[in-house]
Amino acid sequence: MNIFTFKQEEDFVQTGAGLIVSLLQSNPKAILGLATGSSPLGIYVRLVDMYKKGLVSFAEASSYNLDEYVGLPGDHPQSYNSFMKLHLFYHIDIDPSRTYIPNGKANDLEIECQRYDHMLEQNGPVDLQLLGIGHNGHIGFNEPDERLVGRTHVVDLLEETIEANARFFASLDEVPKQAVTMGVGSILKARQIVLLARGTEKAEAIKCALQGPITTQCPASLLQCHPNVIVLLDHEAGGLL
Ligand code: GLP
Repeated sequence: MNIFTFKQEEDFVQTGAGLIVSLLQSNPKAILGLATGSSPLGIYVRLVDMYKKGLVSFAEASSYNLDEYVGLPGDHPQSYNSFMKLHLFYHIDIDPSRTYIPNGKANDLEIECQRYDHMLEQNGPVDLQLLGIGHNGHIGFNEPDERLVGRTHVVDLLEETIEANARFFASLDEVPKQAVTMGVGSILKARQIVLLARGTEKAEAIKCALQGPITTQCPASLLQCHPNVIVLLDHEAGGLL
């Protein structure tokens, strides 16, 4: 694992965006694994900026997102589908037909999960997977539990995750209670994983993930089994290492 801790936000963002740009320069058809949340946001802003300056093209790339809320239509402002369009896809030259996000509104979510896994198997593996981390060590929406699921599946969100995500909704009641997420098995198949964390509220989760025992109670600790993980942290998130 290569762990980088940055004092300046600028360096965090530039390093993350730089990894994606370098990948696309060497392999324009790269498959990107994308995440939502505040952690990758600055990186997306930088990628848009670099695209507008002609420094990178996504024209031949494709992307797979980690997760989506159950029950929100794709055009709901808080859906991860909307997040990706608003912060990245609308501003770059990626072909929208090659941006894949689980459909949390599918009639049959079981079939939707199978369909998503099938696509990943046919087209994958993901070349570079961006990952945030939850306060409780979750990755995607794989919550701490006695057992974790390898494949794409529907999860019941923990109360703490619902509360953490409530800041994006008008009230706690509006936060979806379930999500479709790539499983830890699907995530670990990526050739390279870039884990991102910012802020003191992530410091404990980062310590458990990187230095704790490998345990399903901290899903991010499974990343210790992956041969190619880069961790980008700000000073606060790396504060307990
Ligand atoms: C959500 C997402 C995760 C993300 C996490 C942290 O729960 N499902 O994929 O990593 O939030 O988000 P943030 O980066 O905003 O702290």
